[in-house]
Order: sequence, then C-alpha cells, then structure tokens
Amino acid sequence: MKEAQFIWKDGKLVNWADATTHVLTHTLHYGNAAFEGIRAYQTKKGLAIFRLQEHTKRLLNSCKITAISCPYTQEELQNAQIELLKANTYKGDVYIRPLVYLGYGVMGIDFRKAPVNVAIAAWEWGAYLGEDALKTGIKVKTSSFVRNSIKSIMGKAKISANYLNSQLAKYEALECGFHEALLLDDNGFVAEGSGECIFIIRDNKLITPPSDNALESITQATVMEIAKDLNINVVQRRITRDEVYIADEAFFTGTAAEITPINSLDFRVIGTGKRGKITQSLQEYFFKIVRGECEKYEHYLTYLH
Ligand SMILES: Cc1ncc(COP(=O)(O)O)c(C=O)c1O
Repeated sequence: MKEAQFIWKDGKLVNWADATTHVLTHTLHYGNAAFEGIRAYQTKKGLAIFRLQEHTKRLLNSCKITAISCPYTQEELQNAQIELLKANTYKGDVYIRPLVYLGYGVMGIDFRKAPVNVAIAAWEWGAYLGEDALKTGIKVKTSSFVRNSIKSIMGKAKISANYLNSQLAKYEALECGFHEALLLDDNGFVAEGSGECIFIIRDNKLITPPSDNALESITQATVMEIAKDLNINVVQRRITRDEVYIADEAFFTGTAAEITPINSLDFRVIGTGKRGKITQSLQEYFFKIVRGECEKYEHYLTYLH
C-alpha cells in the first residue's frame, strides 16, 4: 500500500502512522462497521472524486441499517474527504476508504453504548485486478460459497461483517488458480462477484442482475446509464450461471474493479475469450467520464478546488 501523509480521524487530520486503534475496538471483534470505497481520478483540473454524494449517502444508509449512529452529516463527511485529498499529495489516481466503526470501551454483543469513530484514509491505488486485466480480462470461478442470504444479512449495507463471505470466496478462487469468484444467490441465480457486479452481453443486449442479492452498486448504475448513450439495450433481470457460459461478452463492474472483462467462467470461454467490442466501448466511455472528458457527466465529479 502506498502510504499518504495524513488520515482523517474523528474530525482531525492525523499522521498516517498515528491513525491507530485499541485491540479491544468493538468492530475488530464483532464486525459491525460501515465503509465505502470511492475513487478519485486525475483530470486536467486536478483530482476529481467520482460520485462522492452517492457513495457518502450509501455510507450513511449502511450506518442506518446496522443501527450505528454516525456523528457526522453527509455534507461533513463529503467535506472531510475533500479536506483529506487536499492535505495529501498524490501523483496518481486515489482510492478513498471511509470507515464508521464502533470503538473502544464496551465488550459483548450489545453495541448500543459503544462509541462511534470515523476514519477516512486515501491512498494511490491503480487497477484492482491488475492493469493488464482491464485489457486482457480475467478467469472467474463460480464460488462454492453462496452470496450472503438476504434472509440473514442486510445486503443493501456495505458493512465489514458481510465481507467475510467475499474474502472466503476470493481466497478459494485464487487458490484454485482463478482471478475472481462469482457468487450465486441462495436460489442459484447469479448474484455478484466478491466485490463487483456482473454484466453479460447476449445478442447485443446488456443484461445485469437486479440488486436484491447484490450491493446496490454505483458503478453498475453508471454503466446502465451510459450504455443508453451508446444505444445499447439494457435489461436488469436474473441470470443463471449457464447463461454466463454462453454469453457473447461478460464483465465485472465496481469502484475498485472499474470495468474488467471476464474471459471465462469455470473454464468455459466466454465469446472470443478476449475483451469484447461492447465491453471495450463501455470501458472507453467510462474512463472518459471519470477523467473529466465528458461534459454530460461533469456533475458526477467533485473537484477539490
Ligand atoms: C460485494 C460488492 N458488490 C458490488 C460492488 C460494486 O459496488 P460499487 O460499484 O458501488 O463500487 C462492490 C464494491 O463496493 C462490492 O463490494
């Protein structure tokens, strides 16, 4: 990880090395914390945060769902992220990680009296699945882990505890020689990757599962929106694992993964086994937008000045 100079912690900028916490921090033991992953891209006008408002709103929604009372408003949290990016020096693109967690002072499952702490870190981070993966694509395995059931966990919330499932699915996929895992829901339909949403293309139609068994994804929403500009038909409906096998193209989307082509699922080559034409055109359009080269989507960017 490329360290920056400061981390924003409970209202103040502190040195990166000083942003520490006690071993009896409540969240460390029981996993109740809300977090976000946000990207800021280098543009001609300096760093621009992509869809800051939507991510910060989702952070507060996650807090609400898990009954964490965040001591900051959406505006304060947005300003904190801007303040942090201004205070640090970055040459490349940046990944921002706000975390609202339960701190030190209370132990046991009853968290109602635990203090709430907020930290925001931001560091330079390139392509999550590797720079090459954006062009050459990745090999994916259907996971033996079922995506967290909505009967027992709250999927609209981006909360730490939900990610044990993602971690184990990712671990299994990597150990088996794949790059990423695809999780099915508890009815056997395609849900999402360990940290991404999935799209397939069949007969020039772009298809992605609904977000009832996946995180309500900001990149997925962006891709569905921009596909229309490229006159691509978009359908949000359930898909099955074998439908991915016979798709013409497939790709993952996410703040970290951006738009990453999928070459194969469970050894079945998808389409030509290379990045497809529609995937490439969506990628090119997406990167223009995040780099501030598309007037129509300037409102998705927050510049620092
Ligand atoms: C499990 C999961 N699904 C989907 C996504 C994609 O969401 P977004 O596009 O909002 O980053 C993420 C990333 O945050 C994720 O962790």
